[in-house]
Amino acid sequence: MARVRMVRWTWAVLAGLCALATCEVQQQCPPRGEISPCSCSVKKNGLDVLCEFTDQQRISDAMGVLKGKPFVIFYLKLRHNNLKKLPGFVFLGLDIRHLTIHNSSLSVVEEASLSSIGKVLTQLDVSQNSLTLVPSAAFKSLHHLLILNMNHNKVNSLHAKAFQGLDTLEILTLYENKIISIDADAFVGLEKKLKRLNLGGNGLTSVPQKSLALLETLKKLEMQENRLSEIREGDFEGLKNLDSLGLAHNKIRQVPPRVFSHLTLLTSLEMDGNNIDTIDSDAFAGLEENLQYLRLGDNNIHTIPTDALKRLHRLRHLDLRSNNITFIAEDAFFGYGDSITFLNLQKNDIRTLNGMIFENLNSLETLNLQNNKLMHVPEDVMEPILDTLRVVDIMDNPLLCDCELQWYKNWLSNLKDKDDEMMQKKRTVCTMQYEHREYSLQSLPLEKMECVIKSYKSAANEARWSVLKQTAIGAFVLARYIYL
Ligand SMILES: *[C@@H]1O[C@H](CO)[C@@H](O)[C@H](O)[C@H]1NC(C)=O
Ligand SMILES: *[C@@H]1O[C@H](CO)[C@@H](O)[C@H](O)[C@H]1NC(C)=O
Repeated sequence: MARVRMVRWTWAVLAGLCALATCEVQQQCPPRGEISPCSCSVKKNGLDVLCEFTDQQRISDAMGVLKGKPFVIFYLKLRHNNLKKLPGFVFLGLDIRHLTIHNSSLSVVEEASLSSIGKVLTQLDVSQNSLTLVPSAAFKSLHHLLILNMNHNKVNSLHAKAFQGLDTLEILTLYENKIISIDADAFVGLEKKLKRLNLGGNGLTSVPQKSLALLETLKKLEMQENRLSEIREGDFEGLKNLDSLGLAHNKIRQVPPRVFSHLTLLTSLEMDGNNIDTIDSDAFAGLEENLQYLRLGDNNIHTIPTDALKRLHRLRHLDLRSNNITFIAEDAFFGYGDSITFLNLQKNDIRTLNGMIFENLNSLETLNLQNNKLMHVPEDVMEPILDTLRVVDIMDNPLLCDCELQWYKNWLSNLKDKDDEMMQKKRTVCTMQYEHREYSLQSLPLEKMECVIKSYKSAANEARWSVLKQTAIGAFVLARYIYL
């Protein structure tokens, strides 16, 4: 019964797909010579046509051959051509689903060039060309477009209603253009569906707040590699569904109070590669319930910004690499450390680790302290996290060989049961001062060093054992029960 229903359901789905891709029609490429220099192959959903290193005339001729036939051209890829202008009606009579015009010197897209495929085109890629503005008149009839890629062009501003008509658009990428100004109405028409917007690699000096404010459905906003020097409270107002914000590689110096307070659904925030030296204690207000990934690497931060981080009780991933942190305060992870699984402190200036700094990092799996100035990594500091850690990196520190480092060797040998090969390969060394030589931490000569060799059998290990034993007994009892 269930199987019959399953079969029927499968047929229904297939029939649906056929309707979409017109698979009743036998898809076949025209004879090779007829569309030369273009080439054609048959894909599952239609033809895949490629024209490279040619010019407008030959492309128009090839399109002429394909015209009026019952083909679905699933991909039309025009790459590395000399195609300065896309002429009107060039695709008339064609059914093109994905169109790519890449690295072809395109600078003019005539108004009537795309209108004939407006009902079927779902993806348009015009990356790496010479467009200096958005050809809005040509785009406005693309009522089924889902993805528009304009990366690597020369667009220097986004005018009002630049994307009007693209009301189904979900992804818009403008990475690596020359955009310095964005009209307040630039994104009008995109407010119902747009999920991702990439404005990275441009020349923005401030957050285009007015233009962005209407994008209520936006989930991912990328503004990395611009020239933002300041972010202000209210800058992200309106972006109520934003999940991920990329502000890396700008020139931001301060993170002021409440600047992200409208982004209550944000899970990921990237601010690495700025000049941040000040983070207000209310900087992350509003992010309490959802922020999980925070990247603050390559800045100029001098201490772990505990006051600002305290409220982030969902934080899992904290990256503070390449900053100017010299020590870790006793209460550095108080209040929010419990949820952190990944902590990166590599390439800082940390000289000592003291006391119970890691005490409440109860979920920590990865700790990176590589490339600091540590001479000692005492066991009592590490002890609270050894049971959960899967990866600990203390390479490239001026470590001295002392009995305190026993924990590492032992932790590593415990890890061996867990088959963690990555850790085994790391060669972390310490210097034996009186011998002027280095030892791998894995083969510390503890006897020679006259260490009191500790017999490690951590509480967690014992707990694991007892669980195992109980499971074994349970299984045995169950087996007997079933047998009888
Ligand atoms: C772009 O196309 C030209 C031919 O028009 C070609 O010589 C060049 O290598 C291409 N550049 C890239 C990056 O593909
Ligand atoms: C760290 O601080 C020192 C001086 O305190 C400064 O010279 C250095 O440039 C800073 N490093 C970074 C990465 O900002």
